[in-house]
This record gives sequence, C-alpha cells and structure tokens, in this order.
Amino acid sequence: MIARIAWIASITLALCLACAAGAQSSSAQPSQSATQKAAPQQPWMNPSLDPDTRADLMIHEMTLDEKIQFVHGLGWGVLRAGASVPPADNGGAGFVPGIPRLNLPDINLADSAVGVRMGAREGRYSTLLPSVLAISASWDPQAACLFGSVIGRELRAQGYNMSIGGGMDLIREPRNGRNFEYSSEDPILAGTMVGQLVRGVQSNHIMGDIKHYVLNDQETGRNVLNAVLDPRSLRETDLLAFQIAIASAHPVGVMCSYNRVNGDYACENDYTLNQVLKRDWGFKGFVLSDWGGTHSTVKATLAGLDMDQPGDDGYFSEPLKRAVLDGQVPEGRLDDKVHRIVRSMFSSGVIDDPPVRGVVNPFQGREDAKKIEEESAVLLENNGILPLATGKVRSVAVIGGHADVGILSGGGSAQVDAPGGNAINPEPGISPWGRAIYFPSSPLEYVRKEAGPDTNVVYDAGTDLAQAAKAAAGAQVAIVFVTQWMSEGRDAPTLSLPDNQDALVAAVAAANPNTIVVLETGGPVTMPWARSVKGILESWYPGIGGGQAIAAILFGRVNPSGKLPVTFPASDSQLPHATITGLTEQMMNPRRGAGATARDPANRPRIRPQPFDVDYNVEGMAVGYRWFQEKNEQPLFPFGFGLSYTHFAYSNLKVNPDAKSVSFDLRNTGARAGDEITEVYVMLPASAGEPFRKLAAWKRVSVGAGATQTVEIPIDPLYLSIYSTANDAWSRPAGDFLIEVGGSSADLPLRQVLHLAAR
Ligand code: BGC
Repeated sequence: MIARIAWIASITLALCLACAAGAQSSSAQPSQSATQKAAPQQPWMNPSLDPDTRADLMIHEMTLDEKIQFVHGLGWGVLRAGASVPPADNGGAGFVPGIPRLNLPDINLADSAVGVRMGAREGRYSTLLPSVLAISASWDPQAACLFGSVIGRELRAQGYNMSIGGGMDLIREPRNGRNFEYSSEDPILAGTMVGQLVRGVQSNHIMGDIKHYVLNDQETGRNVLNAVLDPRSLRETDLLAFQIAIASAHPVGVMCSYNRVNGDYACENDYTLNQVLKRDWGFKGFVLSDWGGTHSTVKATLAGLDMDQPGDDGYFSEPLKRAVLDGQVPEGRLDDKVHRIVRSMFSSGVIDDPPVRGVVNPFQGREDAKKIEEESAVLLENNGILPLATGKVRSVAVIGGHADVGILSGGGSAQVDAPGGNAINPEPGISPWGRAIYFPSSPLEYVRKEAGPDTNVVYDAGTDLAQAAKAAAGAQVAIVFVTQWMSEGRDAPTLSLPDNQDALVAAVAAANPNTIVVLETGGPVTMPWARSVKGILESWYPGIGGGQAIAAILFGRVNPSGKLPVTFPASDSQLPHATITGLTEQMMNPRRGAGATARDPANRPRIRPQPFDVDYNVEGMAVGYRWFQEKNEQPLFPFGFGLSYTHFAYSNLKVNPDAKSVSFDLRNTGARAGDEITEVYVMLPASAGEPFRKLAAWKRVSVGAGATQTVEIPIDPLYLSIYSTANDAWSRPAGDFLIEVGGSSADLPLRQVLHLAAR
C-alpha cells in the first residue's frame, strides 16, 4: 500500500513541478526567513531540522493552556453578526491565535474554493476562477495546479496562511448544491485533480486543506443526515478520492464534514479518522471540523479530531482541559493534536516564509482564469454551426442569462466578492449569501468583439418568450445563455433548469434554426430541447475570464477540448435516487423569501429537521456512469464526452503484459490542431463483482492537424485492485481484464482482454 501511494505521488509530483515553480516565482512575496528574527535559544527555528523534530522541541516548551489555545478557533468572527473579531483576525472564516513568545504565528484561515472569499470587507480583490467542476473538465493536472497556485498566491497577498478550499466530495448526487466546488463522480479523476489543486495552493507556502471528509454528498439535511454505505464501496469510491488527493498533495488539513457516516458524526468517527485517514493512509497533518461540526469533547478527540472550528462551542477549550486533567483524554493525545498542527506549519513553510500582505494582480488572475476556462468548457453539441465565422455572420441575437453584463458564480462559502458588486445590480461591497452573483465579464461584449465591427449583435433579456423569439427570428444566429444558480446549504430539487428557461430555449429554437445554447450551471442539467438546437456549450461557472473564453470558443479562436467529469442524465428518474432523500417542501424553502437561506435569521426553518438516513448502498460502487452502465440507461451526455472542432482516430492499442501501461496511436484527422483527452477504462474479472467499466487512466494530448502521435499512459496498479474488508487491504483479482481506450466512456474503439494473475 505504501509503495503504491509513493507511486501515485511520484507521477503527480512530476506533473506539478513546472506549475509549482511558476507559482513560487510569481508569488512576488519577499521571503522573510524566520531564522533571521528567531532568538538563538529557540532551537525549533532552525530550518535544517525536520518538521517533526521542530514541533517536538516547541511543544516541549508549551504550557497546558497554550496547547489548549492552539486546538480551537476563537469563534465565528466576521461570519456571524455580533460575534467578536479579535484584532489580529485577518477577516477570514477562522482564526487561531499564535504564541508570540514561541515564535508561533496566528493561523488565519480563508474559504477559497474558487478564489479567496470575503475580500471586499477589507477592500481587497480576489480572482474568481472557474468552478472546481470546470477545472476537472479539463482533465489537465497542470491546469488544476495552476488553479490552486492562483489561490495560494492571492491568499499570501491577503495575509492568510491557510486555505480551506479543496472540495473533494464525490458527485454521487448531481443535484447537490455544492457540486461546483467538487470535482467529479469518478474517484480517480476527482482525487487526481483536487490533489493537484492543493499542490498548487501549497506551492505558495500556504497550508492547504481538503474537505468535507466524508460523504457530505448532498446539502439537504447535511447536519442531521446519516450517510450509509458498505465499507468496501466506501473505500473504493468516496474514500479513494480522498486517498489519492492526500497521497499526492499531502494537504496539511482535512476538514471533517457535518453529516454522520454509518452512524457516527464524521467529526467523531473513529473508523474514517483514526483507522483510515491516520493509520492506513499515514496522514500526518491535522483534522479540523467543519464550522460547527464538532459534537463532543472526549469522543471527538479520541476518534481523531484535532482542531475545533470555529471553536466557540467550547468543546476543545475548558472542557478539553478538564478532560486532560482528569485523565479522560491522555495528555499524549493533546500533544499529538498540537504536534500535527505545529509540524504542518513548519512543513508548509508558513513559519519560515510567512505571507506578507500585498496587492493582488487582477490582470494576471484574469489571464489565468481565462486560460483555465478555455481548457474546461465542454462542447456538447455541434450540428455544423460552430465555430461561427468572424466577419461572415452578419447578425447575432444574444439572449438571456444576464449575458449583457456578466457571468454567474456559485454561492455559499465558496462565494468570491464580485468587483464592483453584483454585475446585474452593481452595489460595491460584500457579495451577500443567498443571492445569485454575476461577475463583470460580459459575454455580449466579447461576442461583439469576436464577431467584428460589421456584425449586428443585439441583446434580449429572455424574460418575455415572445419578445425573445422575435429577437431570435430577426438574426442569423441566436445564442441563448441559460443559468442554474447553486449554493451551499441547498440542493436543486430537480435537474431541470429553473425559471422557465427550458421554455425560453424551445421558443428561441422554434424561431431560429441556428440556435446555440451556452450553459452556466453548477452541474448537470436536463435539456429537453437538446435535439432542436444546433450547438450546446457547457461553460460551468466560467470565472472572471468567462466572457472572453466563451466568445473565443464560439468564434473558433480557441478549439474546445473539455470533457464531462460527470454524467448528464436524461431525466431525474434515471438516477439511483430519483428524488433527493429528505428533501421536503419545508427543507427546500425554510420560511421562504426571495433569496431565503437557512443562514438568514429571518429564514430559519421552523422545525429542526429530524435525523434521517441516506442509503448510498442503493448504488454502492456504481456511482455516476457506472450506474448508467449497470442499469443499461442512456444518459443525455455520457461521462468523459466532449467535442472538438477537429476529430481524432484511435488505433494500434498495445497493453503492457502486466497492465502497467497502454500505448496507442492518436491521429488528428481534421484540419486544425486540437487537444484530445484520451481515456483508458478497465473492467475487472467477474469475480470482482463490479459489472462496469471504470476509468483507470487518461492523458490530455495536443495533436497538430493531420498529425499522428503515439500516446503512452501508465496505469496505477491500485486502479486494477479491489478492497477486501476481510483483509483490510487492496489486491488485484486474478482473471480476464478488459482494457478499453477512446475519447469518452461511451465511445471506446480500442479494446483488449488481458489475463492477469492475482497480486
Ligand atoms: C462550510 C465549509 C466552510 C465553513 C467556513 C461551512 O458552512 O461547509 O465548507 O469552509 O463553513 O466558512
């Protein structure tokens, strides 16, 4: 197992080095070596010692009170009206005061899923990146690393030393309100991409984090639900994603989630925290609770929770001190908590190279965000209409989605403050919780630029169907922008687009045969109109460079190359859970009001929801595309699917006799250069009891027009293995393995069966 993890880490390290080096040099922060200012009698300030030794030396000098102080935050701070904000609090989601006499700095934690949150309060700017789901659609580990490095760079410039981004939960529930913060329904894709993202963050000497550990796969009832899943499936799906990311990135923090996992709260779950994370995976960092996710002092501490956040519930303050003094918690366990936190501060560099406040460079951020989006948008349909020819299209009607002013962002604790305020209703300041916030990157403006001065581009808001149809009928091409606003704290009740937008697309398509739809969604949506439009581009939440990137793709300056990291079902009824478990009218609309959320005091639910189980054993290991195979259901668009303005042909598959790698020829048969995401799937022998193909490896390849490349892709032996709960170990079953290669989970032209021995 250890060897396997080292193997994963070594390939991902190789992939991330360039990006990490770039991030370091571009962070432009003067590095102030703590050794220069440290008193000579503080041996732990010697950077040539290893982090564990340095932590031990420091902890030896700590009093019991100082140890207790360092294992919890100081409360909700700026997050909650009326909560106190300590003077040294940097204005982020969490604050742990340091111990100046020991040269131990404060920990300032910032939400930073898709950019640094809460900049506006302090007059700071943060780059809005595309969603995490978007970056996963690039299938490009380097791009994920760049994504993380932008976050790390801007955290440094804003004086934070810890990120609490790194959304890692598997997309089991495509209506989950936080899917835009997450990566994929496939554990290998998710673990690899989020691992790279966290590497990028940490390459800036910022402590990184992954969350929400584990099975926080829906928002409905997240504080009361008990996620039920058999241990083998858990290991091979949701836990595997975390395992891969942890092995490659060594994040210093893992945030445990609100929900229960097979009975125990995730933040006091001995199995997931002590046994799996710390024992089996050798995690050396610290576990921090989600905000308000701690439920006990002794049980949580003994089960593996190290830090309580935001910490005003008192579990890890006086009660923990008493529990240590009366022997309910061994002092060694308290030392272990502190050791994990302090060694992380040494290993990440936040003590030797602390952040220095500066000014974020918004132009560099926008360039990075645009580049990422250009790799991440997925072309889902192209019935000969795209790319639009600059100078040849004489008139365009851009309709809906507030495309005249901006692009949509995701809500909740991932919300970045929009510069100048919400683009649809500008009012400088904080972007409030519970509102759909648009950023000033106007697709209309960039469509006009791409189309050229002789093209008449008109805009219609799309709120009146007849008027929208009229605008569409009067133009050569109609581009409809549709949006799905998603946020922490709420799930989408269905996969349908909200606000009558399906009818809008249908009306426009009926009026103009040359209709293109651009989606800005948090995750998959259904498209009853899919076959009546000529082009569909999924831009996700495209980030601050979104308007430019979308227009550049529509007009062909950029060749689209993203592929779906999640299945797009044809209907809710195809899903393992046709409706979201626990989603009642009341849960959906607690004291409804425009933009109401459970956070607004006026909108609190009348009754605290009763605990309930979410039975993930319904699908077990068959998450996402595997479920569709098992049930023989045809999705609207399959996992791994995405079109390009060129075409690729696959041939000449060779599989290494021990399945360590595959190679094949990839030919670009079209007239322009393009990137192809080549995918390798494996179906294990029948004895494994997994009757579906699973992603095992992939590579994003750039191929010139007409050129052929031989592509070689290594396969991690772990991904040919199954988890035995009896032996508590992974092993490869003996038998026939079907290896398939192609450009989508539903289009795999190359295949070979390989007989392998058990291992
Ligand atoms: C979210 C976390 C977030 C925390 C602090 C919680 O509601 O679940 O993801 O980091 O708040 O803002």
